[in-house]
Amino acid sequence: LSASTPSTFTAAALRELVGADGVLVGAEEMAPFLLDHRHLYRGRAQAVVRPRDVEAVSRVLRYCHEHRIGVVPQGGNTSYCGGATPDESGRQIVLALARLDRIRNVDADNFSLVAEAGCILARVQEAAAEADRFFPLSLGAEGTCQIGGNLATNAGGLNVVRYGMTRELVLGVEAVLADGSIYDGLKSLRKDNTGYDLKSLLIGSEGTLGIITAASLKLWPQVRAHATAFIALTDVAHVVALLELLRAHGGDRISSFELLPRVAVELTVRHIPGVTDPLDAAHPWYVLCELTAARADEPLADLMQGALEKAMERGWVADAALAANERQRAAFWRLRESVPEAQRMAGPSLKHDIAVPVASLPGFIVEAAALVAQLLPDGVLVCYGHAGDGSLHFNVNRIDGTGVTAFQEREPVLRRAIHDLVTRFHGSISAEHGIGQLKREELARYASPVGLVAMRAIKQALDPRGILNPGKVL
Ligand code: FAD
Ligand code: MLT
Ligand code: ZN
Repeated sequence: LSASTPSTFTAAALRELVGADGVLVGAEEMAPFLLDHRHLYRGRAQAVVRPRDVEAVSRVLRYCHEHRIGVVPQGGNTSYCGGATPDESGRQIVLALARLDRIRNVDADNFSLVAEAGCILARVQEAAAEADRFFPLSLGAEGTCQIGGNLATNAGGLNVVRYGMTRELVLGVEAVLADGSIYDGLKSLRKDNTGYDLKSLLIGSEGTLGIITAASLKLWPQVRAHATAFIALTDVAHVVALLELLRAHGGDRISSFELLPRVAVELTVRHIPGVTDPLDAAHPWYVLCELTAARADEPLADLMQGALEKAMERGWVADAALAANERQRAAFWRLRESVPEAQRMAGPSLKHDIAVPVASLPGFIVEAAALVAQLLPDGVLVCYGHAGDGSLHFNVNRIDGTGVTAFQEREPVLRRAIHDLVTRFHGSISAEHGIGQLKREELARYASPVGLVAMRAIKQALDPRGILNPGKVL
């Protein structure tokens, strides 16, 4: 590049705004920021910019707005839908938020904390625990993903059945808008009906409406008791009845209710060191259920056992293992949380991140599995996920490494069939991972036309020059 190319010009200007060490332009140093987690997209960029504070983010946005440069925000880069990867034009910049990594304040009495966007999720959980509080957002990527990315995607994860999705865990947001103005919505209030709820609009907007720079988060009393069971179902048809029964016994103490098929146990045992089958015999479907409580003396194991005994009498449950100690509990969770990694090691997979009403889960699984058998008979169905929320990772794997191209070529046909079925079940084609660039056409196809017009109007109002994460969502 000569000194007069736009790239060098932009990089020099950006260095003025964020400091020399905050701008990367070398191919090697930029490479990790230009490839998505699933290796589906490889983009190019003028620069990767790493501001340290909200004022620097504001200066960068003002510059990019003025010069009409596309800005792709990036947190931990764990997106499953190419949301944080720039396009191939080489004209966009990646705005990496990792250096905004301060916990600004923990208010134990108010059950809230304020974290900057670049804080790793696990660090936020720790900060809450240090104040004897609990922050419930939890997902397999928690050691890598950032709270800003969690808000931007309205992440779900493993505790939604009790605490809700990210949007329900947020009290306030600080964000930089497309023209560089700073929206200070960092209140820590439980009640605040002063006009439109801008924070809820920014949450889940995948970097297309503003750059989230900090968030005020809700905390709960520290969890001091767990009962964690790995439960074998006689048939997936009983999963809804089991949830109802557990609710009757455990009330709102159910914090996780995860469904796993037999193949998920087989793949994790085969590919993930240290994972073992918790039960003696093989069963077609399993539920990993956890009850939690703030009081150490709550009889959670009794509640769980009582429910499981009834479920066995009724023929819904064939066997179950209750974690006897923290090591066993961690082993159950390791099995569950390493399913995506085991799937990746087993071979390429076609993923559908969908949700249906909880009561429709068994009916949906039966019909969708029949579609897979018909359209992709050599695919292995790895259907698992957050059944307590009706949310499924309805994935299909190629296991033995042969016929991969033919398998991947069938993807559009299978996707259409699954998403049409989801729609017939009044479900969602994007339950928790977002739209990004992967599902843009799917959103255009399946979203309410009136809703799409409203979304485009909002985008136009907040980002009239279209610089925020261009080519994502809409
Ligand atoms: P990135 O991937 O960096 O970005 C995601 C999107 O947010 C992009 O569009 C990006 O432009 C935008 N963005 C990032 N930071 C900001 C910001 N500060 N301001 C504005 N926009 C921003 N997701 C779930 O919901 N539930 C799960 O159970 C779950 N499990 C996972 C398990 C594994 C092993 C992996 C790899 C991923 C999993 N995910 C899950 C997906 C992913 O981790 C989440 O979507 C996570 O919230 C993304 O955070 P991130 O910091 O990596 O964001
Ligand atoms: C999970 O719940 O494990 C993830 O959201 C799904 C995945 O990683 O495929
Ligand atoms: Zn998930």
